[in-house]
Amino acid sequence: MKGPNFVNNGITFKGCGSYLPTQVLSNEKISQIVDTSDEWIKTRTGIESRRIAEVDENVSEMGFKAAVSAMAMADWNSESVDLIILATSTPSDLFGSAPMIQSKLRAKNALAFDLTAACSGFLFALITASQYLSSGKYKRALVIGSDQLSSYVDWKDRGSCILFGDGAGALAIEASNDQNNLFGFNLRTDGARGSFLNLYNKKLDGNIVDQIKFRKGEFSNISMNGQEVYKFAVREVPIIISELLKETNFDSEDIDWLILHQANQRILDAVGDRLKINKRKILTNLNKYGNTSAATIPLVLDEFIRNHKIKKNDIILTSGFGAGLSWGAALLKWG
Ligand code: ACO
Repeated sequence: MKGPNFVNNGITFKGCGSYLPTQVLSNEKISQIVDTSDEWIKTRTGIESRRIAEVDENVSEMGFKAAVSAMAMADWNSESVDLIILATSTPSDLFGSAPMIQSKLRAKNALAFDLTAACSGFLFALITASQYLSSGKYKRALVIGSDQLSSYVDWKDRGSCILFGDGAGALAIEASNDQNNLFGFNLRTDGARGSFLNLYNKKLDGNIVDQIKFRKGEFSNISMNGQEVYKFAVREVPIIISELLKETNFDSEDIDWLILHQANQRILDAVGDRLKINKRKILTNLNKYGNTSAATIPLVLDEFIRNHKIKKNDIILTSGFGAGLSWGAALLKWG
């Protein structure tokens, strides 16, 4: 028969992995460089330490290690991977870091590209990959979140440098024609509020020849209006999650685990309270790693799957939010 022969497939979750750099930066050490204290940071954010990538590490290196571990859990060989999407805002190469991961994995059959949506990046990448798989053309995808925000943090700004850390996480997801463990999703962007959180390209002019000028490529530091980002997260995340639960006919009691982007423990608690989700269902590792941007959600998933807290068939509600502004939620069953 002529014409498209794609079918609508479902998605199953086959494996997860993560990587964290070994350098630990404690609150105590941060208080040696800016006017802050362990007590202030812990009380206001829940963060106790974060990991910082070494000079010879980068986003593709970290993402590669997380992907290797996800592939091992899924029991996939490299050549069976069709698609690699790397969510990152801090690429090792502005032309794309996912191809570097593809090459290191020797995943020669995989289409590989980067996706940028800051702290919502992993969720956006997961949904993007699910659409490729559901088309029927792609079968196996690695969705990776890897970020190295330490390179862009202003280490003199106590309002933001306390929050961020580096790391990577990955999920191995597969198309299935008799099962769909991705129950639903909702994604949003509001560029009008984008100025609350940015990592701008600097306005630096260079001269090529005669009067022909150009803008040099160099990025500034993270600039953030913390209070506005905080208010945005606490207001918008419960709304998007409630809409998703309604659309999928789920109640908050049906949820086994809530995994929110790890930005601030007070945001996690406030969202949990608004949704009336029991605190013991809200998974966090924010105290150890801080906000690792696109890596937080798969880092939490990987930790709690490997320590057997999350079990096969558990229902997981997840939500990412951050710069853009961008935010989203997905409801899934592990397995
Ligand atoms: N140590 C001590 N004092 C501090 C520090 C610090 N590290 N940072 C700020 N302060 C001071 C302020 O100067 C202020 O002092 P003042 O009252 O004398 O003016 C006071 O503490 C209160 O400041 P706030 O900004 O009101 O503190 P808040 O309780 O809002 O906490 C924080 C600040 C932690 C940044 C919080 O607003 C937050 O977490 N916001 C969300 C940020 C976020 O999650 N960003 C990432 C989003 S994800 C992405 O896409 C990358």
